[in-house]
Amino acid sequence: MSLVKIDTRFTKGFFSESELQTELQAASKARETLRTKSGKGNDFLGWLDLPSKTDAELLNKIKNTTERLTKISEFLVVVGIGGSYLGAKAVIEAGISPFQGFKENEKNSAKILYAGHHIDSDYHSELLSFLNTKEFSIIVISKSGTTTEPALAFRSLLTLLEKKYGKDKTKDRVVSVTDANKGALKKLSTEYGFETYVIADDVGGRFSVFTPVGLLPIACAGLDIVSLIAGAKEMETNVSEESDPKKNLSCYYASVRNLLYKKGKKTEILVNYNPRLIFVTEWWKQLFGESEGKEKKGIFPAGVNFTTDLHSLGQYIQDGERNLFETILKVTRPKTESIIQEFSGDPDGLNYLAGKSVSHVNSKAIEATCLAHYEGGVPQIEIEIPELNMKTLGAILFMFEYACGISGYMLDVNPFDQPGVEDYKNNMFALLGKKGYEKKKEEVEAKLNSL
Ligand code: PA5
Repeated sequence: MSLVKIDTRFTKGFFSESELQTELQAASKARETLRTKSGKGNDFLGWLDLPSKTDAELLNKIKNTTERLTKISEFLVVVGIGGSYLGAKAVIEAGISPFQGFKENEKNSAKILYAGHHIDSDYHSELLSFLNTKEFSIIVISKSGTTTEPALAFRSLLTLLEKKYGKDKTKDRVVSVTDANKGALKKLSTEYGFETYVIADDVGGRFSVFTPVGLLPIACAGLDIVSLIAGAKEMETNVSEESDPKKNLSCYYASVRNLLYKKGKKTEILVNYNPRLIFVTEWWKQLFGESEGKEKKGIFPAGVNFTTDLHSLGQYIQDGERNLFETILKVTRPKTESIIQEFSGDPDGLNYLAGKSVSHVNSKAIEATCLAHYEGGVPQIEIEIPELNMKTLGAILFMFEYACGISGYMLDVNPFDQPGVEDYKNNMFALLGKKGYEKKKEEVEAKLNSL
C-alpha cells in the first residue's frame, strides 16, 4: 500500500478527461527523459536514486558525528541558506512537537538553531549573545562554500567558538558539509581540520535533503533518518518504476498541476492544516519556485497554513482573482487524539461537539473548506498522508522532488539550474564594493540614482 494518495475529486469540471490523458502522456514522456537522464540539466540528477543508494557507511558516520556533537552541545547551530537548510528545517519542524523544543535529557539530540539564512543584524547579534553562555556546536552547510549569508554568520559563530573554547577545541565543535574540492568553506575546513561531509557535484541544493545536508541536522535533532530514507525509498520505487502515469504519484501530480496552469491557474497554493508542516511548505516553495520559474514561465508556488489563514487569506482564495489552485497536504490520522469535553451549562454552545475529537473537527474543516473553495472556482489536488511520521515525510519529499523534475521538463525549462539567483548577488557585491565589481558598482549606483 502506498504511503501517500492523491485525490483529484475537487478538480472535476476544470478540465476534460481527454485533456488529462494528453497531459498524462506528456508527463510519461518527461518522466522517461528524467529516468534516462537525457534532458536539460542532466548532470544534476544524482538525487534520483539517493534513497536507494544511501549506504550503511554514511549512516554510521552520521550516527558517530551525532553522538559526538550532541554529547558536548546543548545547542547546534545549522548554518546555511536555501537548499542548504530548508530540507532539514522542514523535517525537524514536522518531526518534533513545538512544545518539546528538544528532547530534554534524551541522549543523542540537541536543540537546533538556524543561522545564515538571512542578514538581519538583530537576529545575528541576539543569537551570538544567547549562545555566549550556552554549550554549542555548528553544522555549516554550503555547497559552493562561498554564499554570503552563511559565510557571514559562520565567521561570527566561529569567532565566538574560538573565544569560548580556544582554537584547539573549536575544531571538534564544527562539522562542515560542502564540495569535495573547491570553495572557501572547503579551504577553511581543511585548515582547521573540521570533520567534513561532501555534497556530490551532481546534487543541487534544493534536491539535497537526503544527503548529509539534510540527514546530519535531522539526526542531531534526535529524529530517525533510517525511517525517513525508508519512506523516500518506497516512493522512489513507485515514481521510478510505475509506468502508468495515473498510478505514478509524481507523474499524476505533475500532470494535474500543469493542466491547471494551462487553464490559467498560475498560482499554486500548498495548503496545510497542521502547524508542523509550515516548513514543508517553505521547502516546497523553494523546490518548485527555483526549479520552474524560468524563461518567463512557471507556476508561482505560494503557501497557506489553515485554519489560521482562513481568517486572513481565506477571503482572497474564496473570492479574489480566479487564477489559483490549491494542493492540500491532508494528514488523516493525528498522533494523539484529543476528545472535546462536555461543559456544564454549555455557556459557549460547544456541547454539540462533546465526545468528538479535535481531529474530527479539523477533518470537517478540511471538507468544508475544500467544497467552499471548489464552488468559489478554485480546483484542488488533495495529497493524503495517513499519519505524519518520518516515513511518510520521506515519501512526500521524494514524491515532490521527482514531480518537480517531471514538471520542469513538461514546461520545457531546465529544472536544475538557478541562473536568476545571481542577479541580486551581483548587484549586492557591487554595492558592497567587492573586489572585481568596481565597474558594476558605478553602473548599479547610477541606475539606483536614476529611479
Ligand atoms: O537550491 C539551491 O541550489 C540553492 O538554494 C542553494 O542551496 C543556496 O543558494 C545555497 O547555496 P550554497 O549551498 O552553495 O551555499
